[in-house]
Amino acid sequence: MLHKVIAKFKALFIYPFKFKQFGKKSRIDNPLRIEGMNFMKIGNRVWVQPYTWLACQPLTGCGEPVLEVGDGTTIGNFNHIYATQSVIIEDHVLTADKVYITDNLHSYADPDMPIIQQPIKQIKEVRIGAGSWIGENVCIIGATIGKHCTIGANSVVTHDIPDYSVAVGAPARVIKQYNFETKQWESK
Ligand SMILES: CC(C)(COP(=O)(O)OP(=O)(O)OC[C@H]1O[C@@H](n2cnc3c(N)ncnc32)[C@H](O)[C@@H]1OP(=O)(O)O)[C@@H](O)C(=O)NCCC(=O)NCCS
Repeated sequence: MLHKVIAKFKALFIYPFKFKQFGKKSRIDNPLRIEGMNFMKIGNRVWVQPYTWLACQPLTGCGEPVLEVGDGTTIGNFNHIYATQSVIIEDHVLTADKVYITDNLHSYADPDMPIIQQPIKQIKEVRIGAGSWIGENVCIIGATIGKHCTIGANSVVTHDIPDYSVAVGAPARVIKQYNFETKQWESK
């Protein structure tokens, strides 16, 4: 497949010089858009699947933004990941297709101005803990997800989710958590 050859070429000869960090054996297949490579750190063995939009832009006056993707993480098709301050996806995370991850919003405060003309508003930073799995169509908007969490398909995560949780729904609520004493996933 031509796009794989192009992705490998860029990974070897272009991205290491354009990204803040671009790890070994990582690949970004046929991206939709990449904005702000100089603020992005991509770990080793990261695979970003086709038609994903990665952006890291200082639009909210909060200093230098960061978008980090940890070692061994796979980002699915058609993901949209937009950082204006900090989005950190730790190691060995899997995001399914059509996942949206952001630490900012379009401000809607002024009722007399079209929202598209209003400033971008900074909200809470995003962190997705190591080993987590983010289901299809999930939106993560200014929230932290702990280690080894599962976020069910179509969930909207607007509040922090603790380590070793299964969370579903809009807004996402924890429905199961791992109990290290009983060694069972227990319903909440
Ligand atoms: C969350 C998920 C992993 C199931 O986890 P589970 O521990 O097996 O959960 P269960 O099937 O026992 O469901 C527990 C409850 O949550 C509900 N539930 C499960 N997934 C849900 C979802 N995505 N949204 C809302 N509710 C959901 C179930 O209906 C059930 O409710 P009930 O107790 O009222 O019947 C699965 O439903 C899911 O959403 N997987 C994501 C699949 C995906 O996106 N794959 C992409 C390929 S990478």
